[in-house]
Amino acid sequence: MTDSSVQSQTGLIDWLGLGWFFRLLSSSIGQKFVMGLTGLLLCGFLAAHLAGNLLLFVGPKAFNEYAHKLHEQWELLIVAETGLLILFLAHIYLAITTTIGNYKARRESYVLKQSKVPHRIIGANSWMFASGAVVLGFVILHLIDLRLGMRGSISYLPESDPEAPFKNTIAALSDPVSRVVYFVGAIVLGVHLSHGFASAFQSLGLNHPKYTPLIKIIGKVFAVVIAVGFASLAVFAPGMWK
Ligand code: HEM
Repeated sequence: MTDSSVQSQTGLIDWLGLGWFFRLLSSSIGQKFVMGLTGLLLCGFLAAHLAGNLLLFVGPKAFNEYAHKLHEQWELLIVAETGLLILFLAHIYLAITTTIGNYKARRESYVLKQSKVPHRIIGANSWMFASGAVVLGFVILHLIDLRLGMRGSISYLPESDPEAPFKNTIAALSDPVSRVVYFVGAIVLGVHLSHGFASAFQSLGLNHPKYTPLIKIIGKVFAVVIAVGFASLAVFAPGMWK
């Protein structure tokens, strides 16, 4: 890139008032901070998404009413979905860059110290990266299934049909492949959250001898609620409404 194009890019970033954000992202502490923040905001989405989907247990009327209310406010929905996409992309991008950074730092310290103690290259970060990658795979299949209605093996009702939200969701969950994928996705998501929730608070600098143990317990409880909640939908909802 030439000097003038770098200057004009920096000028645009400053003009948009985003200079602070890019300065934040240029340090590893800043990257962790944004990663923690995006992770916690995604946790908020998960709680709301689970609450909405648990209406599948209440019945078609409750679920369809909820889905139609959501879709009626389509302007808000577009803003929310765009925000969600940005959060997902930022979280994934930072997961990749911080994992590569950590891996390089570990290798350098290993070479420098010539440590005789076996060095743990696979740490909590690697588990977070692996479980996050599985959740990403699940989310892609899930969006193809239920947001885009593009699975060839399932016949979806058109969106204009008032019964469509409930019937399409149950049809997707009834598919044997989806059922296994949703179940495994929910459990791996729980594993990801069981470490990620508390870790996000640490990345935000909220580290306190009194509150950190409590945050860790809340993180584990949250992970179990999310995993069991989503997994139970995949296991029980299709059988309830055959
Ligand atoms: C049994 C479990 C689940 C069911 C039944 C379910 C159901 C749905 C449905 C019906 C939609 C389409 C909403 C619409 O058309 O407006 C949707 C969208 C979405 N779901 Fe799920 N979901 C489940 C689990 C999950 C999990 C575990 C995640 C994340 C890890 C997730 C992430 C998303 C995202 C990102 C969208 C697109 C955003 C939106 O349109 O609201 N879902 N889900």
